[in-house]
Amino acid sequence: MYILANWKDRLDADSSSALANQILSNTSSAYGNIEIVIFPDTVSLAQVALLFESSSIVKIGAQDGPLEKSGTLTGSIAVANISQFCDYVILGHSERRSKLGETDEIVAKKATVACDLGLVPVICVSNGEVSNADPYLGIETQLQAIPREILSRGELLIAYEPIDAIGTGSPGNPKTVEETARAIHKVISRIVPTINVPVLYGGSVDAENVTSYLSLKGIDGVLVGGASLAADSFLSIVDEALHIEHAQ
Ligand code: 13P
Repeated sequence: MYILANWKDRLDADSSSALANQILSNTSSAYGNIEIVIFPDTVSLAQVALLFESSSIVKIGAQDGPLEKSGTLTGSIAVANISQFCDYVILGHSERRSKLGETDEIVAKKATVACDLGLVPVICVSNGEVSNADPYLGIETQLQAIPREILSRGELLIAYEPIDAIGTGSPGNPKTVEETARAIHKVISRIVPTINVPVLYGGSVDAENVTSYLSLKGIDGVLVGGASLAADSFLSIVDEALHIEHAQ
């Protein structure tokens, strides 16, 4: 089970270190199969990664990855830094797709670089407004754009984040989330029949509602934004996940 914390660009370097220290001093070695991953902003990435260097519990990821390995792209994260400090990388978050015009092609290129560097890409997909006539159309296109060889390796996560659930306090309807997860698994198994890729849900997840997502069939974790910005609310989410693990 995956519990991912996307800090977005909400914390400065000092606040990132302070939050990381609080999480570090309140995590035990009793999280079983729960994979906790923190995604600080790029400026805070190295210092947060160094804090967790000797932690076997919390992994670190970047919120975006390099487009190419050449190392000449202004504004990008250096390949050496991302491979030294990260295990995971978020790609194609809906805010980057909508505000920065990141296309499926760009996401595919970044995913290839990430996999070549040994990182696990967390590829975000979204159907936009839940009132869409065909709720799976956008998602299917985004999934089909992921290079087949990356899907075949099976070392990636898919995060389903409905746009109108992100940062709104209006989380997705669990029934719709479960149906969408089923559709995502179906599309992936049509492309690579032998692979089971973990699918996460993201969008206004908190300690109150996380159980309703983690107990869904086809959902293997959550990608948390706002509720990951304080140690107590984030660790309450981890505790809920632990209860579910123990109950299984
Ligand atoms: P919120 O949890 O703040 O809705 O953010 C979700 C998200 O975008 C995580 O990537």
